[in-house]
Amino acid sequence: MKVLIAYYSKSGTTKEMAEIIVSVLKEEGLEVRLSSVEKVSSKELLEFDGIIIGSPTYYGSLAYQVKKLLDESVSFHGSLEGKLGGAFTSSANIGGGNETTLLSILEAMLIHGMIIQGDSRGDHYGPVAVGKVDKKAENNCRRFAKRFSQLLKRLR
Ligand SMILES: Cc1cc2nc3c(=O)[nH]c(=O)nc-3n(C[C@H](O)[C@H](O)[C@H](O)COP(=O)(O)O)c2cc1C
Repeated sequence: MKVLIAYYSKSGTTKEMAEIIVSVLKEEGLEVRLSSVEKVSSKELLEFDGIIIGSPTYYGSLAYQVKKLLDESVSFHGSLEGKLGGAFTSSANIGGGNETTLLSILEAMLIHGMIIQGDSRGDHYGPVAVGKVDKKAENNCRRFAKRFSQLLKRLR
């Protein structure tokens, strides 16, 4: 089972979240590719059973580098059906639009026919770091990655 974690990060916070998520996915025995989103082509999305995308919150939405990959993925529309998806973000403020950022990414995944798991506890839509990756954000990243791994194993 192969999982892609593609992220954009200018000042390192979203990248730090990506690295925590990757460490747990590896602990769970999954094959993982961690990559900055600019280095991922839309065609490469086809290779993975699970796709996790991270973006900083920019004006309450995703960074254009992430949107670019999602828009280019239209070339493979229909081919991502049934893959497991997830999203994470970092923002400066608590009410700074981090959830709308997550939902923008998840919306695109749903339109692709991907499977998304919410969470009844913790960060409902995906892990969020506010300001920096504190203990709470780290725990939410770890919890997200563990649940993602467990569901992927059940699905596959
Ligand atoms: C262009 C731009 C827009 C931003 N917009 C928001 C915003 O709407 N809400 C917010 O809380 N933080 C906003 N921020 C702050 C970033 O989301 C925050 O610093 C984030 O952790 C950066 O992630 P990175 O360290 O991975 O680059 C913005 C930052 C930039 C550069």
